[in-house]
Amino acid sequence: MKRIVNLILLGPPGAGKGTQAKRLAEKYPLEHLSSGDMLRAERAAKSELGQKVTSFMDSGKLVPDELVTEVVISRIRQELSHGKKGVLLDGFPRTLGQAKDLEKAFSGMGAKIDAVIDLMLVSELIVDRMSGRRSCPKCGRVYHVSANPAKDGQSCDDCHVPLDQRVDDKEEVVRNRLTVYSDQTLPLEEYYKKAGLLKPVDASREIDTVWLQIEKIVDALVEK
Ligand code: AP5
Repeated sequence: MKRIVNLILLGPPGAGKGTQAKRLAEKYPLEHLSSGDMLRAERAAKSELGQKVTSFMDSGKLVPDELVTEVVISRIRQELSHGKKGVLLDGFPRTLGQAKDLEKAFSGMGAKIDAVIDLMLVSELIVDRMSGRRSCPKCGRVYHVSANPAKDGQSCDDCHVPLDQRVDDKEEVVRNRLTVYSDQTLPLEEYYKKAGLLKPVDASREIDTVWLQIEKIVDALVEK
């Protein structure tokens, strides 16, 4: 029988976390939890939290830990309580504070993180990926105008609604997000390396090639 595992996807904006997370959740018993998607859902619902996070997200800053941590951790608790799937964290943690709170929460649930898949990508490729990204406003499926286009070039293959471009994918905001990533999130590589959990992946290759590297890592974990 295959083991149930809990994974983190680490990597700069545009590294392909959402793209690879979709494939992971299709192949393995993993619940994909994206902190960015959770915050965008709060905004769409015009909740109090949604209103508080808008200016941070649109300018490419991180949402403060006290606004995001509890939302994500309570979803993890909910998912793990069913015992049928592990969680696949995409975009969380993003600061050392979030990483430490996450570790405490996992140990409180008698669970652990099995691996941190680090999608490594240089900045020059990132701006192109972000400016070409389009996504489905209904199901969240992610496309790229040249690397991963929709069949008709403009609407979602599954939902058939017109694709959107994210406000924070404008070039100047992307550059800000990259600076924020190096200052606040990159230290997590060292943190998880020391914990023996970091699994580096070359994210500059084509989507299918990146997937093969990830699949090898996860197969080894679930077969253990
Ligand atoms: P979030 O939504 O998490 O954005 P992000 O981490 O910046 O990552 P992205 O979603 O932009 O990129 P991705 O790595 O998923 O790439 P994708 O697969 O789409 O966060 C947004 C904001 O929310 C943050 O700025 C912050 O304000 C806030 N936030 C969220 N979590 C937070 C937290 N924990 N703490 C504080 N604040 C938080 O791919 C990108 C494009 O490239 C697509 O078009 C795709 O088709 C294409 N592509 C993917 N792989 C490849 C490939 N191998 N080759 C060519 N093209 C590719």
